Amino acid sequence: MRVDILTLFPEIALAPLGESMMKRAQEAGLVTIAAHDLRDWATGKHRKTDDYLCGGGQGMLLKPEPIFAAIEELRKENTTVILLTPQGEVFKQAKARELSEEEHIIFLCGHYEGVDQRVIDKLVDLELSIGDYVLTNGAIAAAVVTDALVRLLPGVLGDARSAVDESFSDPNLLEAAAYTKPIEFRGLKVPEILLSGHHAKIEEWKDEQALLKTKINRPDLLEG
Ligand code: ADE
Repeated sequence: MRVDILTLFPEIALAPLGESMMKRAQEAGLVTIAAHDLRDWATGKHRKTDDYLCGGGQGMLLKPEPIFAAIEELRKENTTVILLTPQGEVFKQAKARELSEEEHIIFLCGHYEGVDQRVIDKLVDLELSIGDYVLTNGAIAAAVVTDALVRLLPGVLGDARSAVDESFSDPNLLEAAAYTKPIEFRGLKVPEILLSGHHAKIEEWKDEQALLKTKINRPDLLEG
């Protein structure tokens, strides 16, 4: 897989992808990740990438010309262009699984009030939001989505089961509570069942705990 991130802040996008598993995935050749400064495609003395809103309104919008030039240069035959924006479809694990099958993704990161609609109409295949809140820029969101996809690529996770067992593998259930050593800490004990060695009972307990945690933290997942 190849991921190109087009942003005014390449360092913000790359920083979280340069450590730990993301770093190893790139070193192992499982993914190539590059971030590009949108200003490199801006023309004129000031290399302007934004401008005022037509018809008035607060803030600035990313101009279409540098974005068209950049995407036309970066895209290949099988490229999916994704705009990160709070106006997009909310990103979920199912979408991460779907996108992890892509050959080449270009993430276009919004900034200021967003991008000119002509970019969305002509270049963007999918608009994604990472949640119902507004970030200062889409580069943070691009790093989040890239991390979620790359960890699903074969060979990235140390233990492939962790992608199956985790929260949202069943889209309606969170992962169960989990414990490690010491068995007793400040008078707080690991539940007996987990020390029993009885695998069927442990699985049953985990299922109950998963349901309980979902009821408490995400009752919306259980509706319907
Ligand atoms: N840019 C600003 N806020 C965002 C969000 N919630 N998701 C994706 N991109 C964004």
